[in-house]
Amino acid sequence: MNFYGRDFLRILDFSEDELRYMLAVARKFKELKHAGRAHKLFPNKNIAILFEKTSTRTRCSFEVAAYDLGMNVTYLDPSGSQMGHKESIADTARVLSRLYDGIEYRGFGQDIVDTLAKYSDVPVWNGLTDECHPTQALGDFMTIEEHFGYLKGLTLAFVGDARNNVANSLMAMSAKMGVNFIACGPKELRPSEELVQKCEEVARKNGCTITITDDVAALEGNADAVYNGTDVVYADVWLSMGEDKEKWGERIEQLKPYQVNMDLMNRAKDSAIFLHCLPSFHDLNTSVARDVNEKFGIPEMEVTNEVFESEKSLVFDQAENRMHTIKTVMFLTLHKKEEE
Ligand code: CP
Ligand code: NVA
Repeated sequence: MNFYGRDFLRILDFSEDELRYMLAVARKFKELKHAGRAHKLFPNKNIAILFEKTSTRTRCSFEVAAYDLGMNVTYLDPSGSQMGHKESIADTARVLSRLYDGIEYRGFGQDIVDTLAKYSDVPVWNGLTDECHPTQALGDFMTIEEHFGYLKGLTLAFVGDARNNVANSLMAMSAKMGVNFIACGPKELRPSEELVQKCEEVARKNGCTITITDDVAALEGNADAVYNGTDVVYADVWLSMGEDKEKWGERIEQLKPYQVNMDLMNRAKDSAIFLHCLPSFHDLNTSVARDVNEKFGIPEMEVTNEVFESEKSLVFDQAENRMHTIKTVMFLTLHKKEEE
């Protein structure tokens, strides 16, 4: 297995074995961190992290992981670089890769991070695009495996805007890891046929299934016994960063039936867990949630506070695991065997 010098742009670029190896390395890094053992393996490296959209977890995970590995970090905020305004993506990539050992990018189209990677001589890591969020899926599967002790044969249901970036990466990761995937949401918000077909091909090879449905009853299992109930219920915001705020009203109407509340959780197995990439609108303690509530009269959105705060909810384990998995991605792609 060779990760050195590679980009981390989407889950489907990696083999099943490579992804499993990444999860194993992440577990090791978590052990080291919890044991308080230093692992400053790259004291002479520098990375740039570019954010064209806001972030808490991803930015902090890249920064803390980099510091733990002994690296220096330059953070460029949504308005802090020339990229896209005064300088092309290709030129930015060629400049940054003369200065840095790795580049993280969070922003809009996947074509932007693909172009950065094409013109960069150093690894480029995708910290979320409109189309996918691969480091999120890695952290999520670390959390799922930690909880259940295994992955193959489990069933994960993503409920809501089932064509968003997080859902797309979870579908790909599920197919790779032999986890049955259910995309449960309204017909208007289904994942693209092209991606579903690609993931189905992978899923067939790994003995799992992809189910696209608008019926929440699908979480109970299906008559063909392809899966016998849902182990993981996953939610994300109903309107993603970069989408037109005017769409709130339409989205709320489309997605209200898919709110993850206790009734919906009860359709999953008794042992089911709840996951959310965060940030989440589960109460009125944010300005966006208050504005939306004032306009549309909905105090809890994609998940109720009851589910979010319940024992089933592992959302803060997930948030922590972002750091261990991001550290893994940077370590593996920057680490030359002879540096050992
Ligand atoms: N889950 C996630 O990517 O969170 P941030 O937007 O805070 O980075
Ligand atoms: N789908 C969300 C994920 C945030 C981590 C968004 O893109 O805003």
